[in-house]
Amino acid sequence: MNIKKIALFLIVAGLVVFGLIQLIPIDRSNPPASAEPQWSSPEARALVKQSCFQCHSNETDWPWYSYIAPASWLIKFDVVEGRSAFNFSEWDKRPGELDEMVREIQRGGMPPLQYTLFHPEARLNDQQKQALIEALTSSWK
Ligand code: HEC
Repeated sequence: MNIKKIALFLIVAGLVVFGLIQLIPIDRSNPPASAEPQWSSPEARALVKQSCFQCHSNETDWPWYSYIAPASWLIKFDVVEGRSAFNFSEWDKRPGELDEMVREIQRGGMPPLQYTLFHPEARLNDQQKQALIEALTSSWK
């Protein structure tokens, strides 16, 4: 085999593998909400929704690339892990801790790096962090 044949073989094999991994089914469902925190205002909810609902609620956006493996696997993984940590749409079953949320926002741990890397608009400046913390704190009972 010469180098061109090897390259061609690798390309074809890569395409076949890429095609095959698309067949693995992924659940992209957004189950109905059972309970939410008692938001202090619609604006407070909107702020939290904008920054945190993607992975911590049942209102996940499933963009076109969430239909293409392996990107779909990474997104699905974040949503499963995020919802299982706490879920704003299932507050009766999976509530979160205010102090943990505040800590994560302050230290820049949330939204996580693997997300803000691809969504720079989701990075929070100090002012946005403060507004988000206030939205959460004022909604806590
Ligand atoms: C892109 C998905 C994504 C977004 C957006 C997101 N999170 Fe998370 N979050 C996760 C994942 C995944 C975990 C579980 C793994 C971990 O702890 O890193 C998690 C865990 C957490 C935890 C538990 C941390 C711990 O160590 O136990 C808190 C608190 C949290 N998130 C708060 C937030 C807040 C507040 C926001 C909005 C500012 C937010 N998250 C936005 C994906 C996300």
